[in-house]
Amino acid sequence: MANKEDNLKKIISHSKEYGFVFQSSEIYDGLAAVYDYGQMGAELKKNIKDYWWKAMVNMNENIVGLDSAIFMHPTTWKASGHVDAFSDPLIDNKDSNKRYRADVLIEEYVEKIRLKTEKDVAKGIKRFGDALDEAQFRATNPNVLRNQTKIDDINARFKTAMEADDLAGIKTLIEDLGIACPISGSKNWTDVKQFNLMFSTEIGAVADSANTIYLRPETAQGIFVNYLNVQKSGRMKIPFGIAQIGKAFRNEIVARQFIFRMREFEQMEMQFFVRPGEEMKWYEHWKAERVKWHQSLGIDAKYYRFHDHIKLAHYANAACDIEFDFPMGFKELEGIHSRTDFDLKQHEKFSGKKLQYFDPELNESYVPYVVETSVGLDRTFLAILSSAFTEEKLENGTERTVLKLPAFLAPVKVAIMPLTRKDGLPDKAREILNTLKYDYNCNYDEKDSPGKRYRRQDAIGTPFCIMVDHQTLEDNTVTIRDRDTMEQERVSIDKIEAILKEKLDIRKVLD
Ligand code: GAP
Repeated sequence: MANKEDNLKKIISHSKEYGFVFQSSEIYDGLAAVYDYGQMGAELKKNIKDYWWKAMVNMNENIVGLDSAIFMHPTTWKASGHVDAFSDPLIDNKDSNKRYRADVLIEEYVEKIRLKTEKDVAKGIKRFGDALDEAQFRATNPNVLRNQTKIDDINARFKTAMEADDLAGIKTLIEDLGIACPISGSKNWTDVKQFNLMFSTEIGAVADSANTIYLRPETAQGIFVNYLNVQKSGRMKIPFGIAQIGKAFRNEIVARQFIFRMREFEQMEMQFFVRPGEEMKWYEHWKAERVKWHQSLGIDAKYYRFHDHIKLAHYANAACDIEFDFPMGFKELEGIHSRTDFDLKQHEKFSGKKLQYFDPELNESYVPYVVETSVGLDRTFLAILSSAFTEEKLENGTERTVLKLPAFLAPVKVAIMPLTRKDGLPDKAREILNTLKYDYNCNYDEKDSPGKRYRRQDAIGTPFCIMVDHQTLEDNTVTIRDRDTMEQERVSIDKIEAILKEKLDIRKVLD
């Protein structure tokens, strides 16, 4: 990727031009950090959801699905700790009047130091080529070591301040690091304050505080409060999981970076209920499984890394993120958390209902421990889109923009085109469309030259284009063009279904 910032701008404008993502309420100048998915985006998003669901629910005998409501009894959020503790530390710059997340300012500072190290390593590789032992270089180069010590010191101070809820300490750290506001360039900061991220509204006709309810900030609580319903009605035996895809809402204050940080977004979460004491085994299991899932999307492994949480959330005894190298650098894509029995015990306490499981093998009852995997659907969408976005120079000197999406996720699987609008070619093309449309989202396109039509399909990531030409009328054959190689193969119409089935089969990826 040439210039990462430019790349993000290109992806944003490509998304708009080809109907992937639009700013919400654009005709009213938009609503910050809220986005709509267009005709192509809705398809891609649905395909990602289906793939996650298949991998989680269909492929695991002991995981079932759930679709719980967005609105929940308000005590849910008191019990879960969100009313008291779901907040971000915010800081304002007095000159620009811009508000920032204090933790993000520090994280971005650390990321800059890390990038310096990566530059030093890249220089070393350029200079010494294969002769360079990268691990040894990282372990001995004075610049690399100095930068790592800086990062460790900052992280240690940050962790101590966050764990002690020492907001003054976080401000001092920002001042000591000399972090300036990117807008005003000044270091004139207010004190750090905590800001709760939950949206609230009133239920029913009377607006008083007794009727206040929240838009869920995570889908997980819908799973926790239904855990016994599912366990009993599904006769589930521990260990078992409940998976859910749904909207979540957070009043994000620092909401930039396109669909990376939104106020309304979707999560794909799975809570895995285990015996107390076995949670670390399952935590490691799900870390490995989730990385495998991401890598099955065909994106190079170097785009992913684990990041252990510096400060654990109020409910966790171990937690890490799978980070992805987005156009704006490595950032959280998925969280994997060992949530102990915190949530279920809290719900027992606040509801007065027992949420225990009777384990027939142990002949005892207990409140299960929970390992959760929680991935942002919109962030997965951005990861897939940004790694698929490719600008290619072709041999004939022209250029093309192509989305090299995994074929099984592509919004349109196959485009069917008559070479011209005459001689009965459109009828023949529609005949083919009418046989394929039951299995695949197809696109019929007869406008403009074939070259232009191929470019349009490349730009939305359509893996296959079928061209109906005059030879088709003679011998019942068409050409199938492959998006990535741009090669065209002439095949008999009778073979099309079998060819597409083979190339678009999701089984291979799931296996
Ligand atoms: N139930 C645990 C939980 O909600 P989280 O780390 O706060 O954990 C999980 O969120 C995932 O949800 C994140 O890894 C991210 O992919 C996604 N996510 C969180 N906030 C988001 C936002 N404002 N916009 C888009 N995605 C978000």
